[in-house]
Amino acid sequence: MNRKYRKTIIAGNWKMNKLPSEARSFVDELRSLLPKTKTCDTALCVPYPIIPNVARAIKDSRISFGAQDVSLHDSGAYTGEVNAAMLTDLGCRYCIVGHSERRQYHGETDSEVNTKVHNLLNVGIIPIICVGESLEQREKELTLEYIDYQVKAALAGVEPKEVKRCVIAYEPIWAIGTGKTATAEQAEEVCCAIRAVIRGMFDARVARSVSILYGGSMNAKNCDELLAQPDIDGGLIGGASLKAPDFARIVAGTAQE
Ligand code: PGA
Repeated sequence: MNRKYRKTIIAGNWKMNKLPSEARSFVDELRSLLPKTKTCDTALCVPYPIIPNVARAIKDSRISFGAQDVSLHDSGAYTGEVNAAMLTDLGCRYCIVGHSERRQYHGETDSEVNTKVHNLLNVGIIPIICVGESLEQREKELTLEYIDYQVKAALAGVEPKEVKRCVIAYEPIWAIGTGKTATAEQAEEVCCAIRAVIRGMFDARVARSVSILYGGSMNAKNCDELLAQPDIDGGLIGGASLKAPDFARIVAGTAQE
């Protein structure tokens, strides 16, 4: 973490878990467990129908909330879609884009990820842009090449001052939901490389302002070591964000210097 130049963020990704009626008790429990001093931006990215319930439950707290995806389109005849304007109207601060599950199960392309990033920035929502290699790519030593491509594609055409507002989440696909975490060294190597890509596309000032998160089986036990790395500015937490004590422990992990 480097608090001087950028924000530390711990964002929960509930994926397709929990019910709208479960939001209140979860948030109440989380609020009671969070450290008294704010050391990071704490956010919950939840399924669309749960957003209003989370929004109500976190009122007057320092927790923010977001969505997990957004439509490619602005408005109109797109049955089942949810656009960026709706998310901003609900008060979302963040929206995850390009999660590997969307890329894998819904065929989301890098150019679609880029369109979504633009749509979100246009309405003032911070995109949490997910990038990450497969096990096969890692084994073939193609990780850094692939990450370079994904980051460049996601940020294409974004103004430097808007890039500073973006968040990148490095999520190696082989570590997501598998209990297999990247080592702190592996995660730092890629997060540092992501910052170098941004430096190359823009400049050092922009690169040092972008928060880069690690995601992939981050939990209450391994968070401290990951968060101690200089280029890891927080976490995108799946499984461990479903249990308030675990999630609160990860938030507390950002108190270290
Ligand atoms: P995980 O998920 O923490 O359950 O591995 C992270 C993510 O997919 O964002």
